[in-house]
Amino acid sequence: MAEAFNTQTLAQDRAERYAQILQEIAAVLDGELNLTARMATVVSMLANSFEHYFWTGFYVVDPNKPEELVVGPYQGTLGCLRIAFGRGVCGAAALSGQTQLVEDVHAFPGHIACDGRSQSEIVVPVRDASGQLIAVFDVDSDQPAAFSAVDQAGLEAILAMVFAAD
Ligand code: SME
Repeated sequence: MAEAFNTQTLAQDRAERYAQILQEIAAVLDGELNLTARMATVVSMLANSFEHYFWTGFYVVDPNKPEELVVGPYQGTLGCLRIAFGRGVCGAAALSGQTQLVEDVHAFPGHIACDGRSQSEIVVPVRDASGQLIAVFDVDSDQPAAFSAVDQAGLEAILAMVFAAD
């Protein structure tokens, strides 16, 4: 009972933090149209808001190679530079257009281990206002099963607000 209460409280706290950070990001980015500035700000503000974030960053669709992602703004240890659509968790998110919530990265077929300490991961497709896929947003944790539907909803709302609003 106590444990169930605790889990619920943590989920509520996390949801509230996502709602708060959405407002903060909107305020900081007000009037700024540069895509790199927008991505770098999202990364910095989210990476500094949550303890379960270990590696936080964007892989951007390469305009010269539409089936390939190239690393964008990130915070964390060295990330691999390029990921083909369909490869690893980021590639699966890009190919399917669906958020990937991975409790155990070691059990995910083709997972790319940029840093061996990563245990779990969430990758959210990022679209512009026309619905075009422009990037994926990747967060890794050094804790197992660190991400939940709360992270998915929070991140999807922030990324839609920053990149898909007219
Ligand atoms: N984990 C990713 C690769 C990128 S890094 O973790 C920074 C994946 O398998 O898609």
